[in-house]
Amino acid sequence: MKKIVLLIGSTSKLASCFYKNYADKYHIVTSSRSPSSDLNIDLSTKIDLTHIPDRLDVAIFCAGMSNIKELEQNVLLPARVNCISTIDLCRALNARRIPIIFISTTAVFSQSSNINSEFDKATPECNYGLFKACVENELMLFKPNTVLRLPKVIGHNSLLTKWAESLAQGRPITCFSDIRVAPLPIKLVADYFSYLIDSSSNGIVHLSPNSDLSYYNLALKLAQSLNASNSLVKSISSDDSTAEAIYKPAKAFLDCRRKYSQSISLDESLKLIFDDLKACS
Ligand SMILES: NC(=O)c1ccc[n+]([C@@H]2O[C@H](COP(=O)([O-])OP(=O)(O)OC[C@H]3O[C@@H](n4cnc5c(N)ncnc54)[C@H](OP(=O)(O)O)[C@@H]3O)[C@@H](O)[C@H]2O)c1
Repeated sequence: MKKIVLLIGSTSKLASCFYKNYADKYHIVTSSRSPSSDLNIDLSTKIDLTHIPDRLDVAIFCAGMSNIKELEQNVLLPARVNCISTIDLCRALNARRIPIIFISTTAVFSQSSNINSEFDKATPECNYGLFKACVENELMLFKPNTVLRLPKVIGHNSLLTKWAESLAQGRPITCFSDIRVAPLPIKLVADYFSYLIDSSSNGIVHLSPNSDLSYYNLALKLAQSLNASNSLVKSISSDDSTAEAIYKPAKAFLDCRRKYSQSISLDESLKLIFDDLKACS
């Protein structure tokens, strides 16, 4: 019998990719603020649980405000959406013995932190990381829950898609030389959701490349993979940019020490991302 999966935030990039690839394998119940979803859940208002099916094997939690800058500007709405209502909904699901796979982030660690394994204490500095860390703490009270921490996920219509379009047209791109990133291909994350569902994982798990690089070096590697000229890739320091950078981690990848965690080589991760970009162009 197919497992029944509640996909909370089904319109998100990550959940959409999981749905696209796994709608045949699982019975997926979608939930978002969109009328096209099976269930309507708006985390900015009081949540109505009456329509949530009794029999669910697991819930994957992808909903939330994810623009780091927006979370710093107005704290009240993000606190409601990303923390208070998220915890309320998780508690209600756990009360029905439904385990949750909650998608968290490297931003639960401070920007200067060099230690960030599953066993290290969260040290958030921005609201985005702080709210995620609060939810993580709550979720760890119910043993069957899983917290999946991810670095930057690269999907379709991402920054790299725009860079690739510019490079293909011979237009220069300007990239941060002092902000590090550990990019993960979105399909790998969707596959990992499936692995976690099937392995009945629990606790904190990490999925991450084993290293990171600057956005500038990422762009150079992209140019190389597209046979575009390196001279089109310009570097800029975030200090000289008008775009304010809130989260500049000294180390953008996660240490992976636990059984359910998975580390992938950075080169392999980049190859999957670039191949996917080429296939979609
Ligand atoms: N993408 C990454 O690189 C990355 C890395 C680490 C962790 N994560 C985490 O993974 C999760 C999914 O990321 P994503 O990038 O795929 O997200 P996304 O595309 O930004 O989508 C965010 C989702 O949250 C929903 N949402 C926003 N406000 C809501 C509210 N008030 N009530 C209910 N739902 C609301 C949106 O639904 P609507 O369609 O209704 O707006 C959408 O489904 C997020 O929790 C994010 O923090 C992402």
